[in-house]
Amino acid sequence: MPDTAMVTDRIRIVPTGGALGARVEGFDRTRPCDEATCAALNRAFLEHQLLIVPGAPMTAVQMRDFSAIFGEVVPQLLRYKRVGELPEVSRMESTLKPDGGTDKTAIRAECWHSDDSYMERPAKGTVLHALEIPSRGGMTWFCNMYAVYEALPEATRRQLDGMKAVHAYDTPRALNRPSPRTAEEIAETPDVVHPLVRTHPQTGRKSLYLNFNRLDRILGLPRADSDALLNELQALAELPRFHFGHRWAVGDAIVWDNRCLMHRVDVDYPAGEPRIMLRTLLRGDRPA
Ligand code: SIN
Repeated sequence: MPDTAMVTDRIRIVPTGGALGARVEGFDRTRPCDEATCAALNRAFLEHQLLIVPGAPMTAVQMRDFSAIFGEVVPQLLRYKRVGELPEVSRMESTLKPDGGTDKTAIRAECWHSDDSYMERPAKGTVLHALEIPSRGGMTWFCNMYAVYEALPEATRRQLDGMKAVHAYDTPRALNRPSPRTAEEIAETPDVVHPLVRTHPQTGRKSLYLNFNRLDRILGLPRADSDALLNELQALAELPRFHFGHRWAVGDAIVWDNRCLMHRVDVDYPAGEPRIMLRTLLRGDRPA
């Protein structure tokens, strides 16, 4: 990964120096983004897979408008998380409540996943914005799935290329169960089949497409063989050399590319301390 900063007259893009990601300095999220700066941000997004954009806390409308720099902001599945009249912005509360009433999706987020993979056209990117964070812990980690694919032996890559897998809203392989869906939400989320190796539609690079909350089985393999192969791929993706971890500050916004990254959160923060984020999702293509 390049380790030098990219500079325009408005912003500076500084690589994290880790397995992925860059920090954007000098960008004022309260002003409209001019064409040259938007283009520079989108180039940096593809080059680094993840951008950290610090600033002051945003309203839901500001969050939607900021997210739109990177693509079309789409309505999200779970209606109960939507902010007011804005179907494109979700309020993600992952506070650990002392009474045990914590939202289930917060706990599932502890496992490596890629947003929306249970959809036919999963979100190309996610924007997450910290409104309130606990005094310690709660880092979000990202895994570079280009690098995981490239680390596989040539023979394994040949074996995986062309394989397809079923992604389901829930699978017994996940460690715990997801938030319940309404009848309308169930109708919108039938099981889908995606390739195990996908080619990024903009960079042309290949990556492994995994999600340990949703990936149920590989098509054409007996369940035991599918489980064994998925476990092997999971063990590889869990190696720290593929990861970058972000320690949140209030006001941070992170945009990441779900087509080539997985992410997870450390659920290690004190109970009762609010952890509240706004989230948007960017329209994606069918993985191929
Ligand atoms: C998520 O996995 O979607 C949420 C990550 C976080 O809350 O840090």
